Amino acid sequence: MPFAAVVPALLEQFEKIVGKQNIIVDEENRYNYSHDETEDYSFLPDVVLKPGTAEEISAILRLCNEHVIPVTPRGGGTGLSGGALPIQKGVVMSMERFNKILNIDELNLQATVEPGVITEVFQNAVKEKGLFYPPDPASRGTCFIGGNIAENSGGPKAVKYGVTRDYVINMEVVLPSGDIIWTGANVLKNSTGYNLTQLMCGSEGTLGIITKIVFKLRGLPQKSVLLLLPFITNEEACKAIAEIFRAGITPSGMEFFEREAAMKTIDYCEKIYAAKVSTPFPENMDAYLLCELDGNDEEVLMRDAERVMTVVEQFQCGEILFAETAAQKEELWKIRKNISPAVNAYSLCKSEDVVVPRANLPKLIIGIKAIGKQYGFNSVCYGHLGDGNLHVNIMKEQMSDENWATHVPEGIGEIFKLTVSLGGTLSGEHGIGIAKKPYMPIAMREANLEVMRGIKRAFDPKGILNPGKIF
Ligand code: LAC
Ligand code: ZN
Repeated sequence: MPFAAVVPALLEQFEKIVGKQNIIVDEENRYNYSHDETEDYSFLPDVVLKPGTAEEISAILRLCNEHVIPVTPRGGGTGLSGGALPIQKGVVMSMERFNKILNIDELNLQATVEPGVITEVFQNAVKEKGLFYPPDPASRGTCFIGGNIAENSGGPKAVKYGVTRDYVINMEVVLPSGDIIWTGANVLKNSTGYNLTQLMCGSEGTLGIITKIVFKLRGLPQKSVLLLLPFITNEEACKAIAEIFRAGITPSGMEFFEREAAMKTIDYCEKIYAAKVSTPFPENMDAYLLCELDGNDEEVLMRDAERVMTVVEQFQCGEILFAETAAQKEELWKIRKNISPAVNAYSLCKSEDVVVPRANLPKLIIGIKAIGKQYGFNSVCYGHLGDGNLHVNIMKEQMSDENWATHVPEGIGEIFKLTVSLGGTLSGEHGIGIAKKPYMPIAMREANLEVMRGIKRAFDPKGILNPGKIF
């Protein structure tokens, strides 16, 4: 269905709903809502609305549904697949005013929050009460919890504790029709019909607009140890991972990064934090694993750490660094979390987010490097390899615009084919958005896509909500 333009009469109605101070029409300020952190994409919306209640969102959606105006919900704008970009113009619905933690229920280990709460703010609020919200995307200091649900974000702790969707038990959602529903109940078990809560998780803002979320929480682990394990090659590091799990250990973080990722990020961190990095990264090593173990019993943790060290001896592992102090742990995590910003500051990048069964990682990483050689691109690889989730940042560097626009997408297609042939899929945690959309048929059969289209039609018959995303 063709979309209608946002005419002045509609702007007047929007303004009546949200108030003059919560509507942006001037180009300079609209521009801030035209991009996220995906490559250099930019799409200018016709108008930005900043509603404050579910009822306001309902009124806006009713109006947009009637007039067939596209609406793109937006969180913190940290997405890496273009999920929040208004590619069909229309309205950007910014959730920035939904920034309240409504309740932390310490007896039931649950919390009710609005979607515009910054993830780290939420993590800290529950931590103060001795509770734990494990999903921990690298962008936690600026991303919104609602965006985490929309993209089903993961992060390092997912390997032990699961991803965002594993903590969502109920949500208030405004449907494109304007109806306001609760998707589930505030319970830990629920076999009551289709699971609308989980359907919303990872739906990238295409089915409804989340206005309240009920999370389940855990008790906060009191202790952790952190090991930096250097390896001669990527392949050896990847092989070691599966063996660590086979030894019966479940780390609370099993992160991988190539030496180039570490070096670029150290330079970047020294610049932006204006402080020297003191942790030594053993030289002549191609790859590092950052292995965190957490729990409440120091002895158990030390025993598990020793087992990890014994397992990795079978591989070509260099001198292991045992992070002694809180400051050293913090520094290592700071380096890990800044890889994406560091590599993106160095060069325009296409960021892939493939995921395979853990034991297939060695084949994946070797294959990706070979594809890069064939198609003429360099990549920096890092990611959450404990759960088989590899980020591949393909750097433009000095490449011509033409090669960037032609060869690289072909090479990415090859990476995805390889991933799928290894039993994997396109995205572990960044979503599909627009960046991976052309590649969906590599991972999904037409019958799968048709089911997804049917679900979309059931929620949004006119297709107004975040059009042009996923499939
Ligand atoms: C990370 C983000 C890019 O793992 O997912 O750093
Ligand atoms: Zn990640």
